[in-house]
Amino acid sequence: MSHNLQLNAEGKLKHFLTIDGLDKNLLTEILDTAESFAEMSGHHVKKVPLLRGKTIVNLFFENSTRTRTTFELAAKRLSADVISMNIATSATSKGESLLDTIRNLEAMFVDMFVVRHGTSGAAHFIAEHTAPHISVINAGDGRHSHPTQAMLDVFTIRQFKPNFSTLRVAIIGDILHSRVARSQILALNTLGAAEVRVIAPKTLLPAHVETLGVTVHHNLNEGLKDIDVIIMLRLQKERMTSALLPSESEYFKCFGLTPEKLEIAKPDAIVMHPGPINRGVEIDTRVADGPQSVILQQVSNGIAIRMAVMSMAMQTQGAA
Ligand code: CP
Repeated sequence: MSHNLQLNAEGKLKHFLTIDGLDKNLLTEILDTAESFAEMSGHHVKKVPLLRGKTIVNLFFENSTRTRTTFELAAKRLSADVISMNIATSATSKGESLLDTIRNLEAMFVDMFVVRHGTSGAAHFIAEHTAPHISVINAGDGRHSHPTQAMLDVFTIRQFKPNFSTLRVAIIGDILHSRVARSQILALNTLGAAEVRVIAPKTLLPAHVETLGVTVHHNLNEGLKDIDVIIMLRLQKERMTSALLPSESEYFKCFGLTPEKLEIAKPDAIVMHPGPINRGVEIDTRVADGPQSVILQQVSNGIAIRMAVMSMAMQTQGAA
């Protein structure tokens, strides 16, 4: 095993836990691999036999619509056997520990775990403790990391704006609680974006946010100037432990993306959102459903990116 837990001795992807520590070549390999899978979506038969005979278990300890469904679809399109465990009705509710759950699933000859967990570091923990032949993919851990979301986002951006060296991206909203924003910032900077801006009230930004490699704005009108890509974020109320905003309507007035605010960005700017969206809180419904929105294309691209990551990680099995 190499120094980076995610890579095998040849530097190939074994687990996919975070964008941190992965280089531009590897991220580009994921994007290029996803390209061929995205083309398959238009085919009459959408399946390939790459993971035939492999068993994948989706372990979602937190709710999900997009990530869980697209991971499951991706596994099926790669011809793997896939189980999506319902944690609410599993033995976890009877007090079984995370490691005991993992040990029992290992005993069923699992090849890959896809893990979403409310605790930062949960996917790393499983990767460190699971049997050496098993790959672990992080489907979102606490406020730490959501690497496949970031990859499907940069994949979508590349479809519309292939030249990252001139690309200016604004990420707007609740950066403080967002694992998506952290992963997007890492991916965009690794791929050489010209500028990543964060636009948010001070209460929704982590301390020393500029050390992540971003420029900081607190005013939406100023922050949207010259922007090619706008990424809106949901207010993650489930992670807020105190009142960080006067009210949702006040927030929408200052930071909500309306058609009028959208006009400040470049005329061909695209609007993105990882979902779930809260209409009238961070985004006006006319923008969410408008011609510049690529929000549903992001969802579709999630299948291709997850197929790419799962097939690449499974190729290294036995070579750790
Ligand atoms: N973007 C995202 O992670 O959505 P879900 O919570 O529905 O998976």
